[in-house]
Amino acid sequence: MNTKCIYMAMMAVLGFMLTSAQRCPFHMDIAPCLCTEIGPSPELDLDCSHVVDIDQLTRVFQADFPSTNYRRLTMTGTPDEPIPLSFLPDGVFGSITFQEIVMQHTQIYRVDDYAFLGSKDTLTMLTLSRSVLTSFPTTILPLLSDLRELDLSYNHLVFIPDLRSSSLRSLTLAHNTQLCFSDQVFTKLDQIVDLNIGHCNMETIPTGMFLNMMNLSTVYLEYNKLTHLDAATLHFTSEVIEEIVLSGNQISAVEPNFFSGTGKQTYLELLNNQITTLAEEAWRPVFQAISDPGDGLVMLDGNPLDCGCSLAWLVTSSSFLSHLARGATCANGTAIHDLDPSAFDHNCSR
Ligand SMILES: *[C@@H]1O[C@H](CO)[C@@H](O)[C@H](O)[C@H]1NC(C)=O
Ligand SMILES: *[C@@H]1O[C@H](CO)[C@@H](O)[C@H](O)[C@H]1NC(C)=O
Repeated sequence: MNTKCIYMAMMAVLGFMLTSAQRCPFHMDIAPCLCTEIGPSPELDLDCSHVVDIDQLTRVFQADFPSTNYRRLTMTGTPDEPIPLSFLPDGVFGSITFQEIVMQHTQIYRVDDYAFLGSKDTLTMLTLSRSVLTSFPTTILPLLSDLRELDLSYNHLVFIPDLRSSSLRSLTLAHNTQLCFSDQVFTKLDQIVDLNIGHCNMETIPTGMFLNMMNLSTVYLEYNKLTHLDAATLHFTSEVIEEIVLSGNQISAVEPNFFSGTGKQTYLELLNNQITTLAEEAWRPVFQAISDPGDGLVMLDGNPLDCGCSLAWLVTSSSFLSHLARGATCANGTAIHDLDPSAFDHNCSR
C-alpha cells in the first residue's frame, strides 16, 4: 500500500467513527434529564421525567449535544405527581430528533403546532396520554411522514379536526370523554390498522366511517353511548379485519344491513348491551359473512335476548350456532346453546 492509500483508509475509519459513534452530552449539561447509550452502535435514549418547568426543559435542549439523533424521549410522571409542564412550545427540543416520544402523566394541556417539527423525518411513535390536553395540533400530522403510532388517550380532548396521514397505522383516542369530531375525521387515514375510540361518549357511528380503511384490523368502540346500529354503520372494505369491539354500550336497536364487507375471521363483540331481538333480516347476513367458511365469532354475552320464535332461524342452525360465543343467554338466563332446537321446529311455523 502506498501512503496515499493508507491516508485514505485512515480517513475512512475516522469518518466512520465520527458519523456512527453516537455520544451522550456531559451529564451535568442536561440535568435533570438522563441520557443512556443503548447497544453496540450505540443508540441514545433520553429520560426527562424529572423536569420541573418549561424553562428548564428548554435549557436542556440548548446544551451542547455531540449527537442529535435520539431513539426515544421519555417523560413519565405518576398519577400522584404528574410532570409539572403545562405546554410544549414550538422549538422546545432544539435540534434534537427522536424516533419515539412517550409522555404520560403530565399537566400538559396545549402543544404548539410545530413542537414536534424537528422530528418530522424520524418520528415513528408519539404517545401523549394521561395528561390534560384539550386539543392537539393535527396540522403537523401530514408532515410527520413516518409516524405510525399516535396515542392521545386519557386526555380532555374536546374536538379533533379531520385527520390526514398516509403513514399512521395505529391511532388511539380512547378515554377522551367529551370528544367531538366530524363525519369525515378519519377519511384521510387510509393506512390505519388499529383504531381505538373507546370510552369517548360517542352517541352515533357516522355512516361509511370505515370505508376507506382497506387494511383495518381492529376497531375499538367499547363503552361509548351507542344505542343503535343503523344501516351501513359497520360497513368495511378490509379483508383482514379481526376485531370489532362494541361491548359496554347501550345498543338495543339493530337495523338490517348494519354489517358488511369483513373477512371471514372477524370477531364482532357486543358484550353487555341491551339487544333483545336477533331479527333474521339483520343478523343472518352477519353469521353468513363470518362462517361461510370462516372462524368468525359473534359475542353477545350480557344481552337480554328474547328466546321466542324470532330466534328459531339461529337455534335450528348448528353451523350458525357454532359462530355464536357460548356466553349468550336468554333474558331468563338460559344459555342459547342449551335451547332445544326441536322445540323451535315444533312450536314456530316458519
Ligand atoms: C395494506 O398493507 C399492505 C401491506 O402492508 C400494503 O402493501 C398496502 O399498500 C396497504 N393497502 C392500503 C390500501 O393501504
Ligand atoms: C327460558 O326461556 C326459554 C325459551 O323460551 C325456555 O326454553 C327456558 O326453559 C326458559 N328457562 C327458564 C329457566 O325459565
